[in-house]
Amino acid sequence: MFSPEQIRSSLSAVLRQRLPFIASSSPTAGAFARHSSAIPEQILVRHAVEHVFRIRLFRPIDVLATQLLLDLDPAIGKLWAGYARSEAVHDRYFLRDLSAMGVDKNTVREIPAFESTLQLVKFLEMASHNEGALPIVLYSFWTELNSEIGSLPIIRCNERVFGVAAARGASAHRNLDHNLDHLGMICRILCAVIRNDEDLLKAARLLAVITGFIGEYFAELDSWSRNHDVIRRLPLPNGLQPNLHQ
Ligand SMILES: [Fe+2]
Repeated sequence: MFSPEQIRSSLSAVLRQRLPFIASSSPTAGAFARHSSAIPEQILVRHAVEHVFRIRLFRPIDVLATQLLLDLDPAIGKLWAGYARSEAVHDRYFLRDLSAMGVDKNTVREIPAFESTLQLVKFLEMASHNEGALPIVLYSFWTELNSEIGSLPIIRCNERVFGVAAARGASAHRNLDHNLDHLGMICRILCAVIRNDEDLLKAARLLAVITGFIGEYFAELDSWSRNHDVIRRLPLPNGLQPNLHQ
């Protein structure tokens, strides 16, 4: 049996090994990792839109993980169920931020989700047929670790560019993650799923595959921005002008 700290440390090492490659091969990922003030305004908007899609697309697979975990260990299944239920409605937070950026719900509805997001969800669902809840919970490990260490510069950037109201949802989401210790909770859930060295190796391999989808997401974001897609936006409230260089 591993402790939550051992799980966190082993899986973080996988991310530390893989993520720099993504940051060096994608200009957008590089900006997210190192120079958030250089992220173009349209990318900030498109990134928030994809948050909405990801939360919605994950609802069915999070429910699948609940069933699988309840079969494995009812207490752990209950813990995950509470977590997944709360995450499932956080698209509202990002929709509110988008509205403050001048993007309404109807505009979001017209935008297709990125292929990389659809493929990620498909992969996690398929992988769970053989591996149980592990692949789905591993994705949450990545999101919670990213919330803890990577999301603050992006929140600050949104505040600078679009105003405080445009980052209120993302900020509330991050505070919840922190106050409820979502990362610690996910590591405790992983302890019930990763029971020996072989499982840990399997988890490391799955997480490496998941980072491949993260890389695909940033490549798609790069390509989207190169093609100059523009999301229709309303004027910002109070005549606020987006400004990347404040
Ligand atoms: Fe969370």
